[in-house]
Amino acid sequence: MQRSRREELASQLVERGVCAVVGDEFPRVPDFDRFALEWNELPPDPHLESVLCRRNRRYARFNAIRDGDGYALHRLADAPFTQAREIIPLHQGSPREFAPATPALVGTTLGALVQFDLHVMSLASRPIASSFVGVHFMRVLAAPGKDSSPAPEGRHRDGHDFVAMHLIQRHGCCGARSRVYAGTAREPTFETELEQPLDALIVDDRRMEHEVGPMTATSAEGHRDMLIVDFENVVFSWA
Ligand SMILES: [Fe+2]
Repeated sequence: MQRSRREELASQLVERGVCAVVGDEFPRVPDFDRFALEWNELPPDPHLESVLCRRNRRYARFNAIRDGDGYALHRLADAPFTQAREIIPLHQGSPREFAPATPALVGTTLGALVQFDLHVMSLASRPIASSFVGVHFMRVLAAPGKDSSPAPEGRHRDGHDFVAMHLIQRHGCCGARSRVYAGTAREPTFETELEQPLDALIVDDRRMEHEVGPMTATSAEGHRDMLIVDFENVVFSWA
């Protein structure tokens, strides 16, 4: 992708609090097909008792440190994921432990996607020197004739600085409309359905709320595979 297109995305992020990337225009992501197969091996999310959602999941943590024109991702020890009770009441602020990411999930493919997000976020403000990066590998399952909620917490902020939502693939399902709102505004600033692999949204989570509408299966069992990347403790450089 040309720098000018990345700058356009960065302007959208500044002006609307969200930018949308079309999968086709994504820079070449190495080994993407192999990466996407790993979603078949995600174990069930053990902390989700909602009857509205069946979800499989892994989680990994990194520090991203600026390194030349790119970022080096340093994996951190696995630790539970916690969101404040006032941000996500559904989980009452309790730490949630997820299965760790496998080596095939944390290589150059993930690195390319995270670097892309960091570059767009840097163009939207000042260059980012470092950031904590939390990565959620998620598959939401759906059955025919029964709504499944990809985001059972409802409309929410996640409590980070930025959140990137990359569709990896979807199969045999319809729905799951993403809506992004400026704070508590009634009408969404932006809404779309992520349909093609690598369609993505980058959201300024400091000032925007988001939600994902219900999805339903159009075959025996449908699924929607997502890579959600949380950026927090973002440190900007003055360079
Ligand atoms: Fe979220």
